[in-house]
Amino acid sequence: MKNLLDVESLSKEEIEDLLLLAENLKEILSRPIPKVPTLRGKLIALLFYEPSTRTRFSFERAAKILSADTLTFTAKGTSIEKGESLLDTVKNLEALGTNLFVIRHPLCGVPHFLAKYINLPIINAGDGTHAHPTQALLDLMTVKEKLGTLSDLKVAIIGDIKHSRVAHSDILAFQKMGSVVYVSGPGFLLPEPKEEEYFRLKPHSFKVCYNLKTALENADIVIALRIQKERHGKALLPSFQEYHEFFGLKPQHLGWIKEGALLMHPGPINWGVELDPELEKYPFQVILDQVENGVAMRMAILLRLLSGD
Ligand code: CP
Repeated sequence: MKNLLDVESLSKEEIEDLLLLAENLKEILSRPIPKVPTLRGKLIALLFYEPSTRTRFSFERAAKILSADTLTFTAKGTSIEKGESLLDTVKNLEALGTNLFVIRHPLCGVPHFLAKYINLPIINAGDGTHAHPTQALLDLMTVKEKLGTLSDLKVAIIGDIKHSRVAHSDILAFQKMGSVVYVSGPGFLLPEPKEEEYFRLKPHSFKVCYNLKTALENADIVIALRIQKERHGKALLPSFQEYHEFFGLKPQHLGWIKEGALLMHPGPINWGVELDPELEKYPFQVILDQVENGVAMRMAILLRLLSGD
């Protein structure tokens, strides 16, 4: 593994290897002093051209637990404001001694572009509507930890599927591990028929549902998504209230899903829109477990990409 750009490029074996490594590394987080010297002397540049709380800080935490140094770069307050290009910025950070780049960018394909021109490992921390592979890996880790398996599960992903990079990476990741993915939401936020074909890795392993109940019925996992309004370009939704009325997950939907089904969300959550605030008390809600596992999974990814260089 030279880069981590998307879920498509990962084999099932590579995913299993990262899951196992992250599960082992998680123990370090509960030590009185959660620090190991494994990446001492390495410099990791975190390039965030879009806002982030979970991804940015969990990469920073993961790097620090492994004793790596970090440079955190946001577009504001840097020479980007004076017109410096992304590639020049990255070359300059390479000259400063960077060993690995983590990048989040509003445009699809930017991490892939950098990987062509930079001979250092690149991690995609979310590119536009395209992919968020580290989120998919931490989601797999959380499901495996809670349910003990990643195969033969029904995964329901509800919301703005079309604009969600998390959905796109989760859809591929859960199918790769042997589960079936159902997506539902308003018609204009669901994949087009040609995109449906792209997402279906095996016959019957991906289904688009216009009816919420079809997606939720007997689901083992429900993943709610935020409406990605900033990526819509034009107004697609009459109102958040109306969205909540028809596609927001509410306590009355719990009767449709399997007993003990996991409720997940990548964050940030808009309570009262995609999730009814009452669901915060649902006993199988694992949203903060996802955040915690994000640190262990990102430690595993950093180790795999930096060990041996
Ligand atoms: N899940 C996720 O990507 O959250 P952030 O945007 O806060 O990083």
